[in-house]
Amino acid sequence: MSRPPADRADRAVPVVEAPRVEHHREPLGIGERAPRLSWRIVSAPEGWRQTAYRVNVERDGATTSHESQDPDQGTEQGADQVLVAWPGRPLGSRDVAVVRVAVRGADGAWSAPSPPTTLEAGLLDPADWVARPVGATLNENPNTDDRRPSILRKEFEVRAGLVRARLYATAHGLQEAEINGRRVGADTLAPGWTVYGERLRYATHDVTELLETGANAIGAWLGDGWYRGRLGWRGGFRNVYGDDQSFLAQLELVYADGGREVVPTDWSWRSAPSPILRSGIYDGEDHDARAEQPGWSRAGFDDSAWDGVQERRRDPATLVAPTGPPVRVTQELRPVRLLTGPSGSRILDFGQNLVGRVRMRVSGPAGTTVTLRTAEVLQDGEICTRPLRAARSADIYTLAGRPVEEWEPRFTYHGFRYVEVSGWPGGPGGLDDDVAAGALVARVLHTDLERTGWFTSSDPLLNRLHENVVWSMRGNFVDLPTDCPQRDERIGWTGDLQVFAPTASTLFDVSGMLSGWLRDLAVEQLPDGTVPWFVPVIPAVDKWTPMRPGAAWGDAATLVPWTLYERFGDEGVLRAQFDSARRWVDLVDRLAGPSRLWDTGFQLGDWLDPAAPPEDPADARTDRYLVATAYFARSARTVARMAEVLGLDAEHASYAALADEVAAAFEGAYVAGDGRMSSDAPTAYALALRFGLITDPVLREAAASRLAELVRQADNRIATGFVGTPLVSDALSADGHLDTAYDLLLERDCPSWLYQVEQGATTVWERWDSLLPDGTVNPGQMTSFNHYALGAVADWMHRVVAGLAPDAPGYRRIRFAPRPGGGLTHAAARHLTPYGETSVSWRTEGGELRVEAVVPIGATAVLDLPGAAAEELAPGTHRRTAPLPP
Ligand code: BGC
Repeated sequence: MSRPPADRADRAVPVVEAPRVEHHREPLGIGERAPRLSWRIVSAPEGWRQTAYRVNVERDGATTSHESQDPDQGTEQGADQVLVAWPGRPLGSRDVAVVRVAVRGADGAWSAPSPPTTLEAGLLDPADWVARPVGATLNENPNTDDRRPSILRKEFEVRAGLVRARLYATAHGLQEAEINGRRVGADTLAPGWTVYGERLRYATHDVTELLETGANAIGAWLGDGWYRGRLGWRGGFRNVYGDDQSFLAQLELVYADGGREVVPTDWSWRSAPSPILRSGIYDGEDHDARAEQPGWSRAGFDDSAWDGVQERRRDPATLVAPTGPPVRVTQELRPVRLLTGPSGSRILDFGQNLVGRVRMRVSGPAGTTVTLRTAEVLQDGEICTRPLRAARSADIYTLAGRPVEEWEPRFTYHGFRYVEVSGWPGGPGGLDDDVAAGALVARVLHTDLERTGWFTSSDPLLNRLHENVVWSMRGNFVDLPTDCPQRDERIGWTGDLQVFAPTASTLFDVSGMLSGWLRDLAVEQLPDGTVPWFVPVIPAVDKWTPMRPGAAWGDAATLVPWTLYERFGDEGVLRAQFDSARRWVDLVDRLAGPSRLWDTGFQLGDWLDPAAPPEDPADARTDRYLVATAYFARSARTVARMAEVLGLDAEHASYAALADEVAAAFEGAYVAGDGRMSSDAPTAYALALRFGLITDPVLREAAASRLAELVRQADNRIATGFVGTPLVSDALSADGHLDTAYDLLLERDCPSWLYQVEQGATTVWERWDSLLPDGTVNPGQMTSFNHYALGAVADWMHRVVAGLAPDAPGYRRIRFAPRPGGGLTHAAARHLTPYGETSVSWRTEGGELRVEAVVPIGATAVLDLPGAAAEELAPGTHRRTAPLPP
């Protein structure tokens, strides 16, 4: 996390941080030829404002300097500091550039140059790839999960004078590479999951330090992963992308004398069966340490008993560099308790529902088999695995008999809080002692996103709710945004992300990861504009195949890019997704026809409305076609706004007109003359109010009052599903019913947000009552304890409870509008914006509201306190006191 803005008064000149490159945390192996640059100014004299910038680019020993255009030329370009266009000539493959930024204020004085950022391009041209995917010859039945993975190796020489070495690597399946017995990098589950046929990601690693002059060896572990492992529910499908398991890599060596050598994967590699006996995303991993071959990834190992490899086909044009960070282990947790179940089972409780896997350190006789089975919850004192459906979710390790063995599965992950351990060696008490000594730890993994948003308040339950949202996000941002991390599903449901994207963008920097996922969405979109239910697409049963257009899910195509634009100020994502977004709206336009009402076809509607019967979660209180038409209006409006930003005047006009027509049709069809809606349910009102579909102020007020009345009539228990829940709090607070919004937020009876917290939830659940009030697990087929969608309220907590929101794209202008209530005496939010850290905090004291707000340099802000006139704020720290609202 960046430093808070320092005390600016004692600094005469501004201080600039090392620039950032596109949305990369580490700009090594990037895919952009002209990467945009951003920088934060961490301190500056009071009142200082950037009026010009200079970017120095050092390439091949020469430095070029590029200055923003002079403000006197009538351009404001000099004030930009976020995603500024690449100033030099475009990068070529492997090009290295060292970038520094200096800034100038109105006084004409330049700052010192920033610390340098070194960036390096990946392999940008298909012709750069000489490697071929290679793997063991297939001799197993392609239709079983019992396929034994292989390991691959190759020896090579390195001359004296090596100055730089890069490994470009990917796989059909999953890979982990080793060089000379040491692991390459820390990425996990690489290359992640994309639409492999069109976009297969490769990673770039600096491996210079792993190599030695003389004989070297490179090895690769392989696993099935998403490429050919089982995917999907009700038995699922295998070999979705191919039935091979291959490594595709190119090790490039650069010498001081200018010489270059490439060690690519090709026919000369060797293969052997892996000590991993089987491995699957859903099922877990079986590893027999007796089958390990010590030294296999070191030079001099005798591989004469190994087999050759087969070359596979791959179009190098499909290889792409990542736009976001890789998946990594980011935290380790020790169990908080070791339980004994009624059957005598031994169960670790990690105290937190998490996503990752367990690492063990164990000693025992060769051939001893330890089994770890995971679960999110207990029932009757035993792990409850029914919600996992057909995911075996177990890891099985067979000891080699070495004095100490350490093992963690490589190509799988689980969603769990509890782990049942069986077969642990060491006699009675052995497990207790070993657990106490730290022999079993949970390793938390997810896309290694930078945290950007924090919230706290005077209410510990609310704080726990927020923590639960963060944990659910971590657990479901595992290379792609998934619905859940534990059962035989874990796929990129578009609707889940659509509703959660604002919260995700508040909590973490998801800009790079989600712009990559949106590329996949566009690739998977059907020619008629249909957006799949999940991205990447997998074959699925009945209503999911063939794909059909569905509101709220398909609207990810329009609303997710817009959210990224609002939160990260990235116009590029709008440009990249515009065609996909408008194709979605055009399709809905055709489906709706002249009535402008989308009132036909299959819809999920307000999915998981608590009133829907467990076996039919789409049977909500709110008419599903009302939902569909509301989203049609919202998406048409969003495409109009996208067009406006992109300067597409004709498109702006036509989509704006369409949006108006749909809104009018909506109002005509679903809103009565007294503001009552045809579906007299909270989701209907929330949609109409938040999507601007009731224009008459009198009707709008009536609708808002009816919404508040419905909430009160339900004793503040929640009555919305996936669609209404992310909107209902804003609908209340923005239209005069803040108190009711707080009542809803702070309710503890089922169903409610805090019901889950009071039941001991440590993540957000899929169903409001995944755990029933009697403590038993909901018997529904779909009962996850880790689904982020209903946690979308966290964004409202930041924006309204604490009062921190973007007011212009990328937080160039910030809106501080705390709305105290609910008996809270304190709330605060911090956010690491592209401009730097901003924060707001309020406290009620002696009948007054005391507020402190921090504006980063480069941004402006407005402070909007209840009962006071709005005030403009400049960069710096501001303290205000206001009368407490009644
Ligand atoms: C998933 C959801 C998803 C829904 C749609 C479920 O199985 O877990 O979160 O959006 O199906 O039908």
